[in-house]
Amino acid sequence: MNQIRPRGAVAPLRRPAASFRRPNVDAVVAALRPEEPVHCLRPAAVTAAARAFVAAFPGDVLYAVKCNAEPTMLRAIAAGGVTHFDCASEAEVRLARSLFPDAAIHFMHPVKSRGAIRAAWTQHGVRDFVLDTDGELTKILEETGGGAGDLGLVVRLALPKGSAAYDLSGKFGAAPAEAAALLCAARPHAARLGLSFHVGSQCLDPAAWTRALALAAEVIAAAGVAIEVVDVGGGFPVAYPGSEPPALAAFMEAIREGAALLPPGVRLWAEPGRALVAGGASVVVQVQQRRGDALYVNDGVYGALSDAGAPGFRFPHRLIREGGEAAATVTRDFVLFGPTCDSADVMRGPWTLPADVREGDWIEIGQLGAYGTALRTAFNGFDRAHVTEVSDAPMMTTSGYGAGAAARAA
Ligand SMILES: Cc1ncc(COP(=O)(O)O)c(C=O)c1O
Repeated sequence: MNQIRPRGAVAPLRRPAASFRRPNVDAVVAALRPEEPVHCLRPAAVTAAARAFVAAFPGDVLYAVKCNAEPTMLRAIAAGGVTHFDCASEAEVRLARSLFPDAAIHFMHPVKSRGAIRAAWTQHGVRDFVLDTDGELTKILEETGGGAGDLGLVVRLALPKGSAAYDLSGKFGAAPAEAAALLCAARPHAARLGLSFHVGSQCLDPAAWTRALALAAEVIAAAGVAIEVVDVGGGFPVAYPGSEPPALAAFMEAIREGAALLPPGVRLWAEPGRALVAGGASVVVQVQQRRGDALYVNDGVYGALSDAGAPGFRFPHRLIREGGEAAATVTRDFVLFGPTCDSADVMRGPWTLPADVREGDWIEIGQLGAYGTALRTAFNGFDRAHVTEVSDAPMMTTSGYGAGAAARAA
């Protein structure tokens, strides 16, 4: 008997029947003439960015899986030399372990269910857990049987609100005095004791890391216990239109400067997400209707374009027309509307495109490897999308992230 079931999860991205890497996004459009969004992944750019970050960072690099958990991207990151993964949930832990049997997996969500801690510890070989309260420390100790002499405990320190595009200061983290008390409480149980922070995502100010490390040094001094690790979190920025971050080297310099204040011998960790994968994907959307300066397209803020909605991120973009037919050379600013019936499904851009954009045209939107695929929903039933791979360069370059991640020629 047929059973009608509500949709419980977003549909997985589908690979086209002839699934091989195409030279560029135009070749994908020519072959598929897609009526549904297509996520075009660039594993070579991701590998280059990961390799550059690993080479530049003076410590261990943990990729933040939440940013893009597509197996193709995870493999590309591993190919760039990343052997540590920062996971937020049991599902991410399971995924990372299934792909990388020997990787070091770190459970870096400060509030975990007991079952997730237990499964991570007993089934998936996770040894490092973050916490920002006494209650979480108790949970971790109870569910790991005290840690059996091999437990890594990392205390998340709250930072004051900074200038990052995404402020992460409001939800997690212990205030400095509490963090010092937690370090003291955790020390007797920890084979590795650490202190972590996150300056906020897409943080353009290298000095934010120096300031955070200075605060971390004060907390460690106040705790008066030995510490093995300081985790400088994620937040490393990438280029978007109108926003050009300082080069990667400037962030590393700022981290070195702050790390000099730490007790000798402390190992550094970082948890980059966005910086490793942003350039590694474009999403191709199709124009379904034009109304004046408004384009109704087949992906939106409930799909891969969440950051283009209320957060107001701008993304590189260009028109692709059937058969490579030329479009107008005069441009005009457009607003994009996504496919759902929600008025909030609007992306104001502005999106500068040839003035004669018409129904059936496609738009390549770049820099969507970070928090694009990862934030898709099934809202209004618009969750069908394809995934394929391309060999062309990202639409924009972020300074310092390797030759393979250099933007294509204009
Ligand atoms: C704990 C933690 N680590 C790392 C990241 C990755 O941050 P980003 O993508 O800004 O590098 C996040 C993002 O929210 C996070 O919450």
